[in-house]
Amino acid sequence: MKIKPVMIFLPLIILLSAGTSEISEQNSLPIPPILEGEEVNLVIQKGELILMNEEGNSGPSIETLGYNGNYLGPTLRFRDKQDVNILIENMLKEETTVHWHGLHVPSEFDGGPHQVIAPESKWNPQFTIKQNAATLWYHPHLMGRTGEQVYRGLAGLFIIDDDYSDSLDIPKDYGVNDIPLILQDRRLIDGKFEYTPSLRDVMHGYIGNTILVNGALNPKLKRPGGTYRFRILNGSNSSIFRVSFSNEQKFTLIASDGGFLPDSVQVSSIILSPGERYEILADFVDEESISLITEVYGGSQFQVMDIEIAGQGGKYFNHPQSFEYSPVVPPDNATQRVFNMETGGMGRFSINGKRMDMAEFNFRLPRDSVEIWTIRNIGMGMMNIPHSFHVHDTQFTVLSVNGAPPPPKYAGPKDTVLLFAGDEIIIAPKFEEYTGAYMYHCHLLEHEDSGMMGQFLIE
Ligand code: C2O
Ligand code: CU
Ligand code: CU
Repeated sequence: MKIKPVMIFLPLIILLSAGTSEISEQNSLPIPPILEGEEVNLVIQKGELILMNEEGNSGPSIETLGYNGNYLGPTLRFRDKQDVNILIENMLKEETTVHWHGLHVPSEFDGGPHQVIAPESKWNPQFTIKQNAATLWYHPHLMGRTGEQVYRGLAGLFIIDDDYSDSLDIPKDYGVNDIPLILQDRRLIDGKFEYTPSLRDVMHGYIGNTILVNGALNPKLKRPGGTYRFRILNGSNSSIFRVSFSNEQKFTLIASDGGFLPDSVQVSSIILSPGERYEILADFVDEESISLITEVYGGSQFQVMDIEIAGQGGKYFNHPQSFEYSPVVPPDNATQRVFNMETGGMGRFSINGKRMDMAEFNFRLPRDSVEIWTIRNIGMGMMNIPHSFHVHDTQFTVLSVNGAPPPPKYAGPKDTVLLFAGDEIIIAPKFEEYTGAYMYHCHLLEHEDSGMMGQFLIE
């Protein structure tokens, strides 16, 4: 069933007079351009987004933010062991930061709340990629303002390749059969969206009434029959998505946040909380017309993208059954810590009773250590508010979920996990080489911004 949010679109004469081919072209799935090489430039700027509905009618202009463009940003693409020099220019009249979510990176270049880029100034992180192939992403992390800046459009993918991923016989043609999908819900009112959270929104998250894919509304993906790899990012502020296809076909999960899974797994849907990524392989048969379906936890189900299978030149691939993966193994004497994620009243969220304090480290740990962390979502009465847990600088191994071995989708490298009220997840994070401050927090951005975050110092 298709639930259509109520929207009013103002048809623009200029577009109506354009040829239909141009209109359908504009409504095809946008693919963020690749930015690669030793030195890349990111300009943080104001933008304007015009959403087109399925009929090809365009809505009003929406004031947005983007990296090198109107909305979202280019896909940064680097290789393991590569030296990277990123020249960032903040053209905004407000502060921001650029955080590399999922990246093992020196603390001073992590782009967390401490690395503020002042208005109209520059920041130049330089580091070496020391990480296996994965689909990471980048976004602002300004204290108390992350939700707003991400919502206005600041986010992009960060792909790492390595020799192993090169050697795999899987779809690798970016934008052709290896397709990024950034899913974000937005609250459209008269065709526009703005960020004005109420207290209720802080509690339950700023949930939208429609879902954009790579910044487009109801786009179409037209491809010949074949095997497709989708790199899916839940880039929403707080919505938890269940993603599937309208024909209920199965697909294969091949990678989670930090790279390939030890064993691929066949599923017919996948749940992603904000910040999580999964890579999937799906086979499409010619002359099919299906849709990508996204169901919002506690909300509606949306047909977010039409997939039309037609044309020449598609290719089918076998879905690999297993991949190389070295789990993080804690030593017998590993330090253990507990993180109780607490839901208080009036938007008061905390971890172990504390809210983020920029001036205070919640704990310290020695570098080159592997620890055991128990994360709990301590519910509150009748309110079942989900939380997620994300740690900077590391890809961890999930040791258990509610006392049982992790499900297959949590058996590989992760940097963010979802906990419903009452859940307990035990993880083994590893902190190699770098010292300095790093964050851990709930990745529901309204919760994070209201203080559900902490920081640790690696010494
Ligand atoms: Cu995706 Cu601390 O963030
Ligand atoms: Cu992060
Ligand atoms: Cu939360």
